[in-house]
Amino acid sequence: MQLTSSSIGRKILMAITGQAMVLFVVVHLLGNSSIFGWLNGGINAYAEHLHSLPLPIIIGVRLILLAIVCVHIWFGIQLTIENRGGRPQQYAVKSTQKATFASENMIWTGSLLAIFIVYHLLQFTFQVINPETAALKNLVPLHSEMVPNVQGMVVAAFKNFFVSFIYVGAMVTLFLHLSHGIQSFFQTMGWSNDKSQPLIIRLGTLVALGLFLGYVTIPLTIFAGILKG
Ligand code: HEM
Repeated sequence: MQLTSSSIGRKILMAITGQAMVLFVVVHLLGNSSIFGWLNGGINAYAEHLHSLPLPIIIGVRLILLAIVCVHIWFGIQLTIENRGGRPQQYAVKSTQKATFASENMIWTGSLLAIFIVYHLLQFTFQVINPETAALKNLVPLHSEMVPNVQGMVVAAFKNFFVSFIYVGAMVTLFLHLSHGIQSFFQTMGWSNDKSQPLIIRLGTLVALGLFLGYVTIPLTIFAGILKG
């Protein structure tokens, strides 16, 4: 099979931006897990720590994240159109791997995640969905200063059945996307072969499952009344 250098380049850019997002999702989960109290002051202290970073760093990281998401979506759409146009899969290394539900539906799980991220940013970053519970408008004391009540905002959101339901659904989608995406990264980079591929698939699925369980624990424990504001 003849692969053009531009299609390999696009696939590699997709793989690298995808893994950068996996890294973000891992760090974001570690930060969010402070809601369970392992950090003195909980998620309010964590959010305050992030927001006290110099403004150019905050804006710079957000712009890099935005660029990564845009590149990933742009090349994802292009590759899907190419593949559906009858061209074979553009992996740097040929694989005998079977198609799965997750691998066949990457464009749909990716699109659902993009919609979820817009909703999520409107809810917790821009705080416009339920303005009455917005953290920025409800300050609480922390180490002798007043800070936004992120804990109160997140707890108020997940007490609502529909919000928790949307998040659990989004996390199932994230699991499906990553269970294929992580192993696909190794394949695209040419770092897997027919012998190591089954192990890489299992490890990728395990990481995706760990992220799924970590994230769903937050809405589920709040909705069940175990974690309170
Ligand atoms: C239970 C699940 C989640 C909770 C409780 C949660 C919580 C939050 C909160 C509180 C913020 C605002 C941070 C701040 O500005 O202080 C935020 C921002 C964000 N979240 Fe999540 N999140 C969850 C899942 C996710 C997932 C699965 C993704 C990605 C697929 C994600 C992507 C983002 C992004 C991109 C931001 C903006 C980061 C920034 O402000 O620079 N979140 N999240």
